[in-house]
Order: sequence, then C-alpha cells, then structure tokens
Amino acid sequence: MAKKDIDWGNIGFGYMKTDKRYVSNYKDGAWDSGAMISDDQITISECACVLQYAQTVFEGLKAYTTEDGRVVCFRPDLNAERMMDSAARLEMPQFPKERFIEAVVQTVRENIDYVPPYGSGATLYVRPFMFGSNAVIGVKPAEEYQFRVFCTPVGPYFKGGVKPITIRVCDFDRAAPHGTGHIKAGLNYAMSLHAIVDAHNKGFEENMYLDPATRTKVEETGGANFLFVTKDNKIVTPKSNSILPSITRRSLVSVAKDYLGLEVEEREVFFDEISDFVECGLCGTAAVISPVGCVNDHGREIKFANGCDEMGPIITKLRETLTGIQMGHIEAPEGWIKEIK
Ligand code: PLP
Ligand code: COI
Repeated sequence: MAKKDIDWGNIGFGYMKTDKRYVSNYKDGAWDSGAMISDDQITISECACVLQYAQTVFEGLKAYTTEDGRVVCFRPDLNAERMMDSAARLEMPQFPKERFIEAVVQTVRENIDYVPPYGSGATLYVRPFMFGSNAVIGVKPAEEYQFRVFCTPVGPYFKGGVKPITIRVCDFDRAAPHGTGHIKAGLNYAMSLHAIVDAHNKGFEENMYLDPATRTKVEETGGANFLFVTKDNKIVTPKSNSILPSITRRSLVSVAKDYLGLEVEEREVFFDEISDFVECGLCGTAAVISPVGCVNDHGREIKFANGCDEMGPIITKLRETLTGIQMGHIEAPEGWIKEIK
C-alpha cells in the first residue's frame, strides 16, 4: 500500500472522494450487519424524509498519523454518544456506540492511504451521518434509515490557517430556545447558510451567534464553540442549552486544567463583557482552536489585546498541547486515543 499522491500541505477544507465508505441500513426495526462499499452515490425516493423534512444528523471527527507512524482517531466514543442524542431528538433509531466506533475504525483502515502524513498540516476528516430514507409525505419520522461513514483528507478550516480571524455579531439566530441547537442536525446548518454567505460577502469569516431568547449572551459560531482568556489567564467558555457540546471544547477544558494548571469557568458569558477578555478562540474538530482577533458588532470593533495580530500565548499553548496529544507526542488521558490497527 502506498500513500496517495496528494499535495498534503496545500489542501483546503474540502471534499475529496476516497475509496471506501461504511453503510448500514435500518428496516423493520433493526440495523443490518453493515458493509464497506465503493459506491459513493446514494439512490433514494424523491419523497424520502431527509429530502422533505431534513431528518438527518451527522458527526465529525479526525484521524491523524502520529509522530511514530501509527494512525489514531480522537475520542470516537463521544461522537457515538452525541449522535445517539441527536438521533433521539429527531425520532431516529440510535446506531449502537460500539458499532459506530467500529464503523469509524473500518472506514479509516480501508482508506489508510488517504490519511495525511505526520507533520503535513493535513488530517483525515471522518463524517458519520444518518438519514430517513423511505418516502414520507405526512409529517412523521421515517421507518427506514441509512447510517454511513465516509472520510476525506482536509487542511485548515479557516483559509489563513492559524492567523486570527475577524467575525461579526450576527442578527440571525442559529437555534431556538428549547430547539435543536444542542444536537448535530443538518437543519441547524441549513439555517446558518444565509448568515454565513452574508458574513463572507461583508468580509467576515464567521458569525458570532447570541442567545436566541435575550440576545445578550454569547453562544457559538456556525461550526465551533468559544473559549475566552481573561487578563489573569483564566479560561472562560459559554454555557448554554442551545449550543453544541463540542468534544474539542470539553477536551480543551481538561487540557487547560490538568495539563496547563489553568482555572476554567463554564458559565453564561454576556456579550458586554467580551471586551474584558484578552484572547478568543473557536474550538471544534474542523477549527481545532482557531484564534479570533476581532469581533465586529455592527461597525464597532472589539479587538483582543493579546491575540489581535497573531495567536495569543494561552490559545497557542492550548492548541499545542491538544495537537500534541492527538499526534502522539504528549501522553493522552486514558481513553482519548483509538488506534487504527
Ligand atoms: N459547534 C458547532 C455548531 C459545530 O458544528 C461543531 C462541530 O462539530 C462544534 C461546535 C465543535 O464540536 P466538536 O468539537 O465536537 O467538533
Ligand atoms: C466539525 O468541526 O466537525 C464540524 O462539523 C464543523 C463543520 C462546520 C465542518
């Protein structure tokens, strides 16, 4: 087996078809045994529940080549659990946790030549997803589903890589109070498309969404949670029922406390207080932790003192420690790393 001839250092965050994907179908109340297949195309009814009523949930995680040449993925058990929560909220059957992990491992293993080499700056993004596949015209859940996992090599999510980005306060909401903001449902991303296109057209790289009920508290962006750093090096991260419980954010909170000895506060963060913070980062599987240099609030610029022109020192330490754990040169907490054998 030989690595694919890909210019690893210059790929963006895009889709590239790989050789194999995992598929399992749900029918008559049970999942079939699942298989790896080559065909990337899906044929379903024009009236499939996913097409009419957006009954679909997904996950995102990454596989890495470590310094000593192993291939590993990061905390797939948490993606499995989150997908079960997402499925339950949309009245979909749950895909069992152990089978989810095995499907991810199999997909990476059978596309091993697409896993970017250590040090290339690229990683293998793995996308498990599930959708209602049979025809449904009255508004009700499907009876048949498909669970799939594909993967694609990716580079940095934000174009400049690790240069601080400018984001804007968004006038649209991404989630409703008591809605679906806390699960990874395709419908949350459909809602965000107009807002992100509008942000890009106006020169901003992301949207800062505020809490939908009062519009006074910071929630998250379209694809990542926030971490802020105070003047005295404390980490502050928003707590809310309508943001996605980011696995990267939860991991960074542990890294901050247990590896860097930093104090962490998970609490409501009022928009009015963000000018007191000295660094800001966006954390997620795709974003890792990407620095935010400036938040534009309807023309008023809030710049983070220690992270405006380049990544600030605390965000840099968090990023280096997390990626060190993922790439195998810093010892990982028990259970964080799943080796592909
Ligand atoms: N918030 C949203 C809306 C996301 O889409 C993602 C990406 O998965 C995250 C946060 C980050 O979550 P994670 O760290 O689990 O990838
Ligand atoms: C991820 O980080 O895995 C996501 O799903 C974010 C998405 C916007 C690419």
